[in-house]
Amino acid sequence: MSESKRKKIENLREEIRKHDYLYYVKASPIISDAEYDSLYRRLKELEEKHPEYDSPSSPTKRIGDRPLDTFRTVNHRQPMLSLENAFSRKDVERWNESIDKKISLKDGYIVEEKIDGVGVSLTYEKGFLTLASSRGDGRSGDDITENIKTQKVIPLKLNSQDPPDIVEIRGEIFITRKEFRRINSIRKKEGKKTFANPRNTCAGTLKLLDPSRVARRRMNAFFYASGAWEGKGKPSTQKELLETLKRWDLPVDENHLKCRNIEEVFYAFEKLQSSREKRDYETDGAVIKVNSFEEQHNLGATSRSPRWAIAYKYKAKREITEIRKVVFSVGRTGTITPVAELEPVEVGGVTISRATLHNFDFADKINAGVGDRVEIERGGDVIPKILGVVEKSYPAKEINPPKECPSCRGEIKQDPEGVYRRCVNISCPAQLKQHLVHYASPGAMDIEGFGEKVAGQLVDSGMVKKLPDIYSLDKESLLKLELFAEKKASNLLSEINKSKVCRLDNFIWALGIRQVGRHIASILADEFRDINVLSSAKKEALEFINEIGPIVAENIVNFFSGDQNRRIVRELLEKGVKPAYSVTGGRLEGKIFVFTGSLENYSRKDAQSAVEKKGGKNSSTVSTRTDYIVAGRDPGSKFKKAQKMGITILSEDKFEEMILGEN
Ligand code: IVH
Repeated sequence: MSESKRKKIENLREEIRKHDYLYYVKASPIISDAEYDSLYRRLKELEEKHPEYDSPSSPTKRIGDRPLDTFRTVNHRQPMLSLENAFSRKDVERWNESIDKKISLKDGYIVEEKIDGVGVSLTYEKGFLTLASSRGDGRSGDDITENIKTQKVIPLKLNSQDPPDIVEIRGEIFITRKEFRRINSIRKKEGKKTFANPRNTCAGTLKLLDPSRVARRRMNAFFYASGAWEGKGKPSTQKELLETLKRWDLPVDENHLKCRNIEEVFYAFEKLQSSREKRDYETDGAVIKVNSFEEQHNLGATSRSPRWAIAYKYKAKREITEIRKVVFSVGRTGTITPVAELEPVEVGGVTISRATLHNFDFADKINAGVGDRVEIERGGDVIPKILGVVEKSYPAKEINPPKECPSCRGEIKQDPEGVYRRCVNISCPAQLKQHLVHYASPGAMDIEGFGEKVAGQLVDSGMVKKLPDIYSLDKESLLKLELFAEKKASNLLSEINKSKVCRLDNFIWALGIRQVGRHIASILADEFRDINVLSSAKKEALEFINEIGPIVAENIVNFFSGDQNRRIVRELLEKGVKPAYSVTGGRLEGKIFVFTGSLENYSRKDAQSAVEKKGGKNSSTVSTRTDYIVAGRDPGSKFKKAQKMGITILSEDKFEEMILGEN
């Protein structure tokens, strides 16, 4: 009887471990949260009734009873070495030559991402987690077992029938960008100081003495090395080690590449560097490792770092340079932005000579001036930003906002909130140029070949004085412009003509109403279905729409109540622009959706109506005709059925992408 209870407890533990792995490591759960909770409750009840079968590795023992007073210092069985850094191809080549001098490499390299997190060592004894420690000085670190145990991404027991007697597993604990934003937004609401970046957040979390606070934050991990290994199963290559760790259910970064020679290594490095912004975690380089452990052993290590590996750091995304001059750019809605012209500097592989100072308040706040040395940042694909001043020039030269518009010499007014200054001349050529570029851009009217240069010449030549003028252009006048020859002129005219038949949401977006982006434009199109109806909509009616707040509603009303804008919209329509609303031909035309579980950002009704607006259909049952199943939190039996039938399962994020996507 009691033996069977023990078995039952063990089975439940195994089952929960499996679901933790599927949820936290693989990010693909197969049961609902409710089902998980019920397994957990059952285990907890049985354990309470049978304390004789207690185990510190039970999934119910992740959070300790009380905070610690301090962290104990523990010795690593084998030291945690650090890595030599390389900052250029030359550095890597030199490292590689030093290898060639010692051995003749047979088994190539593994190139991994260098995770920008906090190093950790886990000790598993006979498969059970017995210790987690921080890197410390490499010889000894803090015992952070209680904190690490709270994280379900870390297995308390390895998934192995035949684990080594003792193994030290090394890796990196980190916090995703998404979790970092979540934590910071909570701190902001609570009036607490926010963390500077995900790495600091992670380091700060691991230092908390109260594990129950650690448990409230979600940390992630990737493991990539071993220390001491006593007993069976020691792999003989880095590749095999990664595979072994993965088999044991430890999280392993899949973005590693096996390379046969150094040229392949450089290729792998470029590949990882160019895709780093796509990841939800931060990386600061690639780690190049000799694959064979025997070859590693023959190369050996210095007291600080192994000779068989090197960290090839990505080009810094931040740099320091000098402001040479500040110019003022006029945006589509007349906003004047101070832009710093910089002493050119390479940031992350690209030469930067301009960066935005956002607005005059910001320039004031960081006390920036011409001649100052500033820190700039280039992230993803956005315009470089100035983060702050690192050294003032002497004598200080502050930035004075212009008194008149740098383009049309028109009057400049300050927004009531005081942050922005705008040129209020509605015929300002700089605004018109920006507006034309926006109007013609993909996702708006999509007029191919109508970029900044074309807009510039059309406005400067006086051929286009207002937006609708583009529909009166003729070939003869275009040919007078420097940019155009016969073919280019006909192409542009044909593109302009083609744009007349367009989608309502694209047209609304193209109008460039303040704060009406792609998403809001599509909501407005769905709601009003006709530009004339939208243009006479009352503020109250707009505010009534989900997702449209009072400020956006006011912007829309203000836009359509301005004489000039009304005239422009009327003239565009008179010139043959036909914005049409239609659900047919939508991207989801004919596709059948089934929803299960609750969505975070949509009510079921809204989600279903979004499907219909894109031409799709909803059904409440899963069948062979179902195209997609959208799984929210606590998905029901439909989820399992869909999985068995191989139907595409969409997370809420993926679903949202589909709904917000083009068409
Ligand atoms: S291997 C003996 N691989 O970078 C070599 N380290 O500056 C052990 N790191 O202390 C390290 N990603 O905390 C290795 N894929 C990776 C890594 C990685 C991040 C960290 C680790 C190490 C530091 C070296």
